[in-house]
Amino acid sequence: MPARRLLRIGDLSPADVDALLDAALWYFPHIAAGELKLTTLRGFSTLLMFFEPSTRTRVSFELAGKLLGSDTISVTSSGSSVEKGESVVDTAQTLSAMGFHIAVVRHRSADSVELFAEHFAGAVINGGAGRGEHPTQALLDAAVLTRAGMLEAGRHLAIAGDILHSRVARSNIALLTSRGVKVTLVAPPPLMPPAWRAEPPTGTVWETDLDRVLPEIDAVMMLRMQRERMGGGMLPPADEYSALYGLDARRLRLLRPDAVIMHPGPVNRGVEVVEAVFADSRCRINEQVTMGVALRCALLCWACGRPLIPEEGGL
Ligand code: CP
Repeated sequence: MPARRLLRIGDLSPADVDALLDAALWYFPHIAAGELKLTTLRGFSTLLMFFEPSTRTRVSFELAGKLLGSDTISVTSSGSSVEKGESVVDTAQTLSAMGFHIAVVRHRSADSVELFAEHFAGAVINGGAGRGEHPTQALLDAAVLTRAGMLEAGRHLAIAGDILHSRVARSNIALLTSRGVKVTLVAPPPLMPPAWRAEPPTGTVWETDLDRVLPEIDAVMMLRMQRERMGGGMLPPADEYSALYGLDARRLRLLRPDAVIMHPGPVNRGVEVVEAVFADSRCRINEQVTMGVALRCALLCWACGRPLIPEEGGL
């Protein structure tokens, strides 16, 4: 079997996505209860190669690998030979020569994740690639939406905030529109990709007024303002941004009672969302984190060509 690649949502067939979501929903209650311990991936080794900071993605892949019996090793650019100037190609070839079965790679440059994949013999999963894609985030978000009954044609979801720099938005747009979910992108012009201001991606529309959108939608995905990717000139003051695009107590009242509130994290509290969001029964942010472990359990099995859930269906 050729090594599997998940660099973008488009690398998965609709059947792959269905199987991964089903499996994530199987793992979810076991992860939430802290009762999972399997040997599905005994004999497999997983490399977590993070050239950019991460808490959720890196730790959830590490935990998922360990819960399934994989040997899991985490490498960051700091403390590795990347600090001494080793290239992405040499790093990939060096780690490939150690025989790892899977590499999860995050890099500030989308091209570098592609380059790593070209020079690594095992399976490669994109753990977040610059402004490109973050497919595992979109998959876990889709699993949360499935659990809420929202991943259905005709549903309406808003993605609000810093669309310009968001790999989460790009992967979610690809996945959600493929399922017939209507997506409204809510952002001020400077935080919208220039090409999308003229023509938003198929299946999406662009709005600048969050207040107008909130009463109409089934779910809202708030995005982090990615200050680290903004030049000084385009950085809107946090209070100005929050007044226009933050989910605050007044805007919570605009959302329907059965709406779903999401954020991929990390959250700038008081900027994209206020504290009250976390106490709101519609908030699924912590569920997204738990689902991240569940989805990544399924994904590591997929990457190794193993059954996505234990064949006996139990623990
Ligand atoms: N959502 C997400 O990718 O979070 P981390 O940067 O903490 O991995």
